[in-house]
Amino acid sequence: MDKPGIINTVIQNRRSIYPYQYEAGAEVDDAIVKQILENANKAPNHKKTMPWRFTVYGREGRKQFADLQTSLYIQNKGSENKIKIKKLQDYPLMASHVIAIGLKRHGERVPEVEEILAVGCAIENMFLTATAYGLGCYLSTGGITYIEGAKELFGLEAEDRLIGFFYIGKIKDAPKEMQRSPVEEKITWVG
Ligand SMILES: Cc1cc2nc3c(=O)[nH]c(=O)nc-3n(C[C@H](O)[C@H](O)[C@H](O)COP(=O)(O)O)c2cc1C
Repeated sequence: MDKPGIINTVIQNRRSIYPYQYEAGAEVDDAIVKQILENANKAPNHKKTMPWRFTVYGREGRKQFADLQTSLYIQNKGSENKIKIKKLQDYPLMASHVIAIGLKRHGERVPEVEEILAVGCAIENMFLTATAYGLGCYLSTGGITYIEGAKELFGLEAEDRLIGFFYIGKIKDAPKEMQRSPVEEKITWVG
């Protein structure tokens, strides 16, 4: 296939694929996860700040992450929302790997929005790499993402941000085709 054809196919097949759609107990090779992060590290970023930071929970770490996010959530939000709490406990164990994504600030070198954009680019590289390997993945910004005190658990400081959690697994249920309103509605083409 020609090179533009490959990238078009990967982008058009990318979907958010959730842990309940992963093959139970199926492990993704750590080498592939490293390649996903290698490609994240190639994302564009202003003034070479490379603000993305990753904490990877794999075979040994998933349970630790599940317990950590469940207890922090209960500590902050109480234990009323049983469905949410069950999800926080179960989802990491349904995935092969969960990657906590942080944003490390670089003082006044660049505005924060530029570092957020750079991490967004890194995340898209992760999505596309996972898709190219035929893996499922999704980004969660729920759970403990915005809870005070969460970011320090991932080596982040007060000025930094916890961006979310990237789940990876082998696909059991193929995702539906992506539905989008036409791009023409979003373009102003001058000339
Ligand atoms: C910044 C961001 C945060 C997201 N957070 C969540 C989330 O917390 N929970 C969730 O179920 N999906 C989350 N998603 C996934 C979106 O819901 C998903 O991308 C959207 O439904 C489009 O589906 P697609 O990715 O398959 O095209 C997030 C996506 C982005 C880009």
